[in-house]
Amino acid sequence: MAATSITGIKGFNDILPGEVEKWQWVESVARRIFSSFGFQEIRVPILEKTELFARGIGEATDIVEKEMYTFEDRNGQLVTMRPEATASVVRAFIEHGLHVRPTMRKLYTIGPMFRHERPQKGRYRQFHQINVEAFGIEDPLIDAEVIYALLTFLGELRIADLQVHLNSLGCPLCRAPFRARLAEYLAGVSHLLCDDCKRRRVTNPLRVMDCKVPSCRDVLAGAPKMLDFLCDDCREHFQRVQDYLKDLQVAFTLDPYMVRGLDYYVKTAFEVLARHLGAQNAVGGGGRYDGLMKAIGGPDLPGVGFAIGMERLIMLLGEGVGEGTPMRLCFLACLGEEARRRGFRLVQELRRSQVLAEMDYEGASLKAQMRKADRLGVTHVVILGEDELARGKAILRWMETKAQEEIPLEGIRERLTALLRKPDGEA
Ligand code: HAM
Repeated sequence: MAATSITGIKGFNDILPGEVEKWQWVESVARRIFSSFGFQEIRVPILEKTELFARGIGEATDIVEKEMYTFEDRNGQLVTMRPEATASVVRAFIEHGLHVRPTMRKLYTIGPMFRHERPQKGRYRQFHQINVEAFGIEDPLIDAEVIYALLTFLGELRIADLQVHLNSLGCPLCRAPFRARLAEYLAGVSHLLCDDCKRRRVTNPLRVMDCKVPSCRDVLAGAPKMLDFLCDDCREHFQRVQDYLKDLQVAFTLDPYMVRGLDYYVKTAFEVLARHLGAQNAVGGGGRYDGLMKAIGGPDLPGVGFAIGMERLIMLLGEGVGEGTPMRLCFLACLGEEARRRGFRLVQELRRSQVLAEMDYEGASLKAQMRKADRLGVTHVVILGEDELARGKAILRWMETKAQEEIPLEGIRERLTALLRKPDGEA
């Protein structure tokens, strides 16, 4: 009896050849653009102690309450597959004392994140982010700069029709009275809220503002706004972020009800939205998180950054963008053991000279080998038969024109390398 086939886990996707090229291209553009803004790459582990995210993101957030992949490892330690990277980057920054090295304050990282959300278009359980973080700078210049870096990157990918939404979430000082007022307002309309929000209203009223249930959104239309509660310091900071963005000619929309799904934000919060994406329309989001480093046990340094969702980004890429130019491929059709051995060596040599070369491993007939070459879409076939080999020759065939010529085996690698590397494919 045939064994039942094992499929992947729901919400965890394979990225197949053909699609992977786009990912590679997006990553290479990210590296180029973010490096030019002074960000250096850091790689952090996928698994962290659960406490890092509980403390970093906030106990009463959806992510920590119900979306984390958390388990006890074999030593009984509670660990979590990272749902986001900011807390990990901050942890690494503290752990390696990078704050004493002024050249390492701007970092980026690319990789998979894990959240047990309900999968749908644009929302997966394993997804990928490009994270950009800047530590140690109070000045609102850096808030504007990271937003500008994000938009420069998206522009480089030729993604159009994006909106930047901006809000200020204030600081713990001015948020406390706002939170109290919001809680009061929500208590009055509690009967109109969804079950989750009835609970959130008490545990973390700000989270109600993040709810996507239409009836909750209606209720929020009359809710108090954080912007009306900002203290002088936060108001000035927010004004300057807007002024600097205007200097950089960045268009944005003030969105007083945008709170983001993580508790560490203070002051600036932003999201980049793409209309084409449907319900899951945030391509990226971020903001300032000045208290996070201290909360994780490090120095009291401010931070600001964002993350881009790579799956959503790839969905927005235009037709043909990032697919790259196909490599020119050469096929060695060999007849007889002697020719196969010579051909096998030549294929390896060509590959070492960065020419994509393939051959047949099944001892097929010449006709079958030519059919295979055709299916692979090769531009050139080298036919190596026993007769040719005995005369120190091979036949070179241009697949498109079907022209062929006899060429000496001596120096064939150099000849093919030169031929196949030339963009016009001419000898
Ligand atoms: P976030 O808003 O939770 O922020 O995620 C950032 C982006 O990741 C989203 O805008 C979205 O594009 C993508 N994303 C989130 N969840 C999923 C999912 N389940 N499936 C597909 N894509 C998803 C953060 O993670 C913060 N750490 C960003 C940040 C960095 N703030 C400061 N520095």
